[in-house]
Amino acid sequence: MRWLRIDDSALKQLIKNDEFAFRSNLDRKTLDLVFDKRTLEALKYVFSRYSIDYLDFPISSGKESVVFRAISGRKFVAVKIFKMSTLKFMNIRKYIEGDQRFAKIRIDRNDIIPVWVRKEYTNLMALENAGVPAPKPIGFFKNILVMSYIGTKSGPAPQIRDVEINDAIYEEVLDGMRRMYRNRIVHSDLSEYNMLYHRRVYFIDLAQAVDIDHPMASEFLERDIINVSNFFSKHGIATTPESIEKYIKGK
Ligand SMILES: Nc1ncnc2c1ncn2[C@@H]1O[C@H](COP(=O)(O)OP(=O)(O)O)[C@@H](O)[C@H]1O
Ligand SMILES: [Mg+2]
Repeated sequence: MRWLRIDDSALKQLIKNDEFAFRSNLDRKTLDLVFDKRTLEALKYVFSRYSIDYLDFPISSGKESVVFRAISGRKFVAVKIFKMSTLKFMNIRKYIEGDQRFAKIRIDRNDIIPVWVRKEYTNLMALENAGVPAPKPIGFFKNILVMSYIGTKSGPAPQIRDVEINDAIYEEVLDGMRRMYRNRIVHSDLSEYNMLYHRRVYFIDLAQAVDIDHPMASEFLERDIINVSNFFSKHGIATTPESIEKYIKGK
């Protein structure tokens, strides 16, 4: 087994040495939370399976996950590590139960994160098939998702809340929403935080996205539409939730 070549101490070196801790701006508590023993083991496999050399720096550190830029040969990839300890079963089960694509999967209170990660992977695949710009899914294992990196050598793409808004951006967002809907996907956490801008708009953060037949899909879609409408209104774009809904669902 190839991945066994990386032993524990080498792996710790790759991600946890003092230089990384220093450069990453993550405090020791966060590092320990992300890189618990099981995650280190899983990373060992992921590094080998997806030819990742090392984690470069954290792009984002949230309550439930940390996203790293990683180096794979001469390319960058993004590695999203879900925190085993803070992802709440009660908060995420409602996005899994009721989604017919996951109906056959047993959800175990103590082992729901791998399902969650697989769900984000599946949704990223669906977006790729639907022609919606999003990170390309590369692989997943346990609580770790590997996807293409959106950004440049000098830094990751900004969220659209940090870019200057114009009509073209609004139209790209609507086009993406329409394509998702036509391909049976409701993002379910869509906002200016979960769209990046790198030459064009990219949709990210797909774990909670559900199939259109999910019993709460229309409620989730309504919320997405209101978020998008509010954000673009604030930036002087003429929009209403009704006009967005009409466009998304239109023939
Ligand atoms: N593939 C990617 N390429 C570049 N940056 C990314 C990528 N995926 C996520 N990010 C960055 O990490 C942040 C958090 O990722 P996200 O998937 O939204 O997880 P969270 O559940 O923590 O919000 C994003 O807002 C974005 O800035
Ligand atoms: Mg997010």
